[in-house]
Amino acid sequence: MSGFKLVGIAGSFNRPSKTLALVRHVAERASIRYGFTTKTYDLNDVGPSLGSALWRKDLDERASRVIDEIVRADALIIGSPTYKGSYPGLFKHLIDLIDPQELRGKPIILTATGGGDRHALMVEHQLRPLFGFFMAHTLPTAVYASDRDFADYTVSSDQLSSRIGEVIGELAAFFPHASPAIAAAE
Ligand SMILES: Cc1cc2nc3c(=O)[nH]c(=O)nc-3n(C[C@H](O)[C@H](O)[C@H](O)COP(=O)(O)O)c2cc1C
Repeated sequence: MSGFKLVGIAGSFNRPSKTLALVRHVAERASIRYGFTTKTYDLNDVGPSLGSALWRKDLDERASRVIDEIVRADALIIGSPTYKGSYPGLFKHLIDLIDPQELRGKPIILTATGGGDRHALMVEHQLRPLFGFFMAHTLPTAVYASDRDFADYTVSSDQLSSRIGEVIGELAAFFPHASPAIAAAE
């Protein structure tokens, strides 16, 4: 392992979830390439205290733990289902509880799923500006997947797979020396 931690958060509470499947797929491939330790979560892991929390201190332990993991990660994978052309309100509320300084400079892979292609640019028009607020480094390639890119909640399209490969390659700018081979030799 390279010693770097990659955390994925899917803004869905659906199970099974295409968004969580996509986030896990990206995490697994990034881990193979860079030797990251990975953890992935969805809104079920955050739990019900999120809905009534105005401040971070109002969250219960399990929700606080997920936010702590997000802000301590060396890199993040954000995954969001598309709801009415944007991210779900509950997912935004999770992000709202993060302090503006806590994601500053963090490399972030943006991913989203939707029923079709109509809202594919939500990764650019909704997700990217949200993390721009935090002055995070969103990676240039954003990954949007529609229903037809999955078979039984598994990434099944070559086009999607190749786009995921592109964004994983872009992480190299942030982790130039991270690789499982180097970690094994240490
Ligand atoms: C309330 C709601 C609104 C949705 N709105 C859109 C939409 O505007 N555009 C779209 O492409 N898909 C829309 N969808 C479909 C979901 O984005 C899509 O099925 C997504 O992959 C679900 O992810 P999940 O499996 O992680 O829940 C909507 C689904 C729901 C439940």
